Amino acid sequence: SRRYSITLLPGDGIGPEVISVAKNVLKLAGSLEGIEFSFQEMPMGGCAFDLAGVPLPEETLSAAKQSDAVLLGAIGGYKWDNNEKHLKPETGLLQLRQGLNVFANLRPATVLPQLVDASTLKKEVAEGVDIMVVRELTGGIYFGKPRGFGTNESGEEIGFNTEVYATHEVDRIARVAFETARKRHGKLCSVDKANVLEASMFWRKRVTAIAAEYPDIELSHMYVDNAAMQLVRNPKQFDTIVTNNIFGDILSDEASMITGSIGMLPSASLGASGPGVFEPIHGSAPDIAGQDKANPLATVLSAAMLLKYGLGEEKAAKRIENAVQDTLNKGFRTGDIYSAGTKLVGCNEMGEEVLKSVDSSVLTA
Ligand code: NAD
Ligand code: IPM
Ligand code: MN
Repeated sequence: SRRYSITLLPGDGIGPEVISVAKNVLKLAGSLEGIEFSFQEMPMGGCAFDLAGVPLPEETLSAAKQSDAVLLGAIGGYKWDNNEKHLKPETGLLQLRQGLNVFANLRPATVLPQLVDASTLKKEVAEGVDIMVVRELTGGIYFGKPRGFGTNESGEEIGFNTEVYATHEVDRIARVAFETARKRHGKLCSVDKANVLEASMFWRKRVTAIAAEYPDIELSHMYVDNAAMQLVRNPKQFDTIVTNNIFGDILSDEASMITGSIGMLPSASLGASGPGVFEPIHGSAPDIAGQDKANPLATVLSAAMLLKYGLGEEKAAKRIENAVQDTLNKGFRTGDIYSAGTKLVGCNEMGEEVLKSVDSSVLTA
């Protein structure tokens, strides 16, 4: 049987609740395909700060580096909001992404037929939407220098950041995006702010240059403000989107809502080699943490992406995706995707139902 080691980083808020569900689903789906996992749970985020004084302890990063894949819940919360910059939970997450060099973040926004009614958009607008957002994850304004706090010429206090992209950074994310579009419907839209920002003008120049390697892909460019509008006007015009770190962060939260809830959107963060990081796109949801209300499906679907993109175990991944659809077919819904006529359940019960569906897939697979 195949064996893999998985680093679990439950994190803060609803992180541990959704990770506990996803871990069980991963274990069961794997076992049905002859896969054995060893799990190592490590602290990261606010809980790591409380425990070890830093949001990403060295032991956590080295465990992640040595494993086959990382499954992460979410980090952050009010308690740590006033931490110094280098001690914030969010800084730990950025250090993890940079430490593993996972520069390509895939965020699929797929409207499942079962959840069309949960979308805030009209049925005819939401139905059939299937977008892959390819977000650059280890560069741009999140990491650019100079950055910091200081004073300007008139002695006034300032905060500043720098949006910067080097050739190799744009070229490698562009290639991932073109390859992704090739496996989908052959359409790639690069989103930038090239009418204003030099970093975006450069981004557009490099994406256009790389396009020469992919004559079969239909490339278009769109300004980010228009893209934000087009996403809610007519999301079906998009197939694959490639964009920088900060625009990708914002547009993927927006795209998630088309699918019904941010609680549905998984992600895969991949590098050129080494373990990937798999996490829901949502945060620690402090407003519902500890109440068994969180939707665990984004994390469950992230476990499916871990199997598919991280380990090449497509059959086990498919078992999870099918089980999620089956659970929704049976009418089970957490609060965020609830609509009249469906059955309201909590995080744990949703997890139990997904497990049952994975289990019964033995018969149908
Ligand atoms: P959030 O995504 O945590 O929550 C936004 C809203 O969506 C909240 O109303 C929340 O209840 C709801 N929501 C999120 N996930 C849900 C789920 N699975 N099921 C049901 N409802 C869900 O964003 P926020 O409130 O802006 O941030 C809270 C904290 O999380 C902050 O500290 C932020 O920095 C952090 N954060 C972490 C990550 C991450 O770990 N990758 C991502 C985003 C935000
Ligand atoms: C996300 C989050 C993170 C980001 C934060 C918490 C650093 O919003 O994963 O989308 O901005 O990348
Ligand atoms: Mn985000």
